[in-house]
Amino acid sequence: MAMRKKIVAGNWKMNKTLEEASMLASEVKGMVEDEVKSDTIVVLCTPSIFLLPVRKILGDSNRIFVGAQNCSEHESGAYTGETSAAMIKSANVPYVILGHSERRQYFGENGPLLTKKVDAALKHDLTPIFCCGEPLDVREKNAHESLVKKQVEESLFHLSDALIRKVVIAYEPVWAIGTGKTATSQQAQDMHAIIRKHLASKFGQGTADLISILYGGSVNAANAKELFASPDVDGGLVGGASLKSREFTEIAKSF
Ligand code: PGA
Repeated sequence: MAMRKKIVAGNWKMNKTLEEASMLASEVKGMVEDEVKSDTIVVLCTPSIFLLPVRKILGDSNRIFVGAQNCSEHESGAYTGETSAAMIKSANVPYVILGHSERRQYFGENGPLLTKKVDAALKHDLTPIFCCGEPLDVREKNAHESLVKKQVEESLFHLSDALIRKVVIAYEPVWAIGTGKTATSQQAQDMHAIIRKHLASKFGQGTADLISILYGGSVNAANAKELFASPDVDGGLVGGASLKSREFTEIAKSF
């Protein structure tokens, strides 16, 4: 069995002031260094304005990193308010979340756009945390498998073998995000196995076995252990619970 990276990423979304963000980052850093197993990678995905101060607080750790929550599909130019992959890279920020369901829902992000964002991120050697996942009505119609396969296919299947290996995937059923309604570990495992099998059909089993697939959607300190125990769940993308240092650290300790 190939060794995949175990990753716990916090998605802070649009929360915290600079002072609060700095406090959270330094608390998490201290707790992670003292308590979390050294083979678990921790990523703090902050609002873009906090990337640099948080990065400074984290220092040059090889186990706790900062990540952006989005990047532009464009290289540079007249795109007011946007942040490019090159800018993120130049600030020594190694990760970027792409295609989060909130971006898909509120900012009209779709497959073709996300293909461009994935390419922009990889061009600048960022690690995309690529999100996929079905809304409730799609699951109720039992169409979740085909939708998630399509999301993965349309934004990632054009990549070379070398580049897909740099991508981290996050499966986040939309009905579980911020709702307190977590997928069962069986539901998560089933979908992660489907995603991995789909990757294997395109890139081969050896490559598919190397790609970390995170679960996201109401992960907390009480349910993380059971979720992360599933063979195809390689960690979590954590929203609400990442805003509390103690709870987030407990999640990162759950492997
Ligand atoms: P949640 O968010 O943990 O608050 O459900 C997860 C996410 O949106 O990434």
